[in-house]
Amino acid sequence: SKGNHRHYMLKEIYEQPVVVAQTLRSYLRRMEDQVSLPIPDFDLGSIRRVTIVACGTSYYAGMVAKYWFEQFARVPVDIDVASEFRYRAPVMEEGGLMIVISQSGETADTLAALRHARAEGQKIAAVVNVPTSTMAREADLLLPTNAGPEIGVASTKAFTCQLAVLAAFAANLARAKGRLDAKAEKELVRHLSEAPAALNGALAYDESIEGMAHLIAGARDVLYLGRGPDYPLALEGALKLKEISYIHAEGYAAGEMKHGPIALIDDKVPVIVLAPSGPLFEKTVSNMQEVQARGGKVVLISDYDGVQAAGEGCMATITMPKVHPLIAPMVYAVPVQLLAYHVAVAKGTDVDQPRNLAKSVTVE
Ligand code: F6R
Repeated sequence: SKGNHRHYMLKEIYEQPVVVAQTLRSYLRRMEDQVSLPIPDFDLGSIRRVTIVACGTSYYAGMVAKYWFEQFARVPVDIDVASEFRYRAPVMEEGGLMIVISQSGETADTLAALRHARAEGQKIAAVVNVPTSTMAREADLLLPTNAGPEIGVASTKAFTCQLAVLAAFAANLARAKGRLDAKAEKELVRHLSEAPAALNGALAYDESIEGMAHLIAGARDVLYLGRGPDYPLALEGALKLKEISYIHAEGYAAGEMKHGPIALIDDKVPVIVLAPSGPLFEKTVSNMQEVQARGGKVVLISDYDGVQAAGEGCMATITMPKVHPLIAPMVYAVPVQLLAYHVAVAKGTDVDQPRNLAKSVTVE
């Protein structure tokens, strides 16, 4: 049931602190300060290359994970949307692991990619939310998200749980590759363990996000900008907005703005900038200022320090808890979900059943 919530989507957004904690429990050994896998003896050491394949929101979780696999494990990562991967001629070498990511575990394009990779001798890991699904059964390594049933067509809690699993998996791979000493592992475990509380902190901003929905609801086009692991979050924010509010939205890597899309900027195109404090903050802010210099109206999503440093001159700001860059993509998912939700409610669309969309896409 929806409980006290008006829509399943909102209920599922609010479940995130609990279901992310529930998911992490299978991947962290808090007492030992270690990450772990549901199948502890799976041979990760021999993995030389990772190929990530998924669709939609699950694909964006995979894009975030690419940064983690490369940064922590130094393993090369290919990533593609499933419908493209299957019909090109991808090179799959020995020692390759394919990771499919899917809430339903039934998405036809992703399943076809899995079977193709298996036939080419790849090992298969599946990050899925339905443990009885086809992908779960066909994988060598099942990495469940414990988000519970997701009813809203727009994926929310499955996404943050996918990120939690993928972060823990990247850490496991890094350790197996001799790239994570005990001290660094302890740090990673500590940061991941802080995610549920940080998600709660992000939810506390719900009312102010509701209060600014009218700033977006009248727009015809909206841009989302982010850098590094927060670039896929910009894509996810744009996808959420378009699928439930029917407003045209695009996500861009912040640095790509000046290579074209900046031509779109005027005072009628709101620009949502995702810029947590951290090594990429200054660069993203300078891209944001390029937008402002052309009359663009910015909504800055950052933490207290970021909003203090760069919030002046923005149309609105959203203040997130200050978190380690590792968990920022999880935490920043919340404001983009809430913004899309409240804009859709303001427009009066059917939030849980958006037009033309199905929860599970079982045809290619
Ligand atoms: C977006 C959304 C879709 C799904 C995509 C993949 O809100 O729900 O983009 O993420 O259809 O579905 P799964 O994860 O079930 O493979």
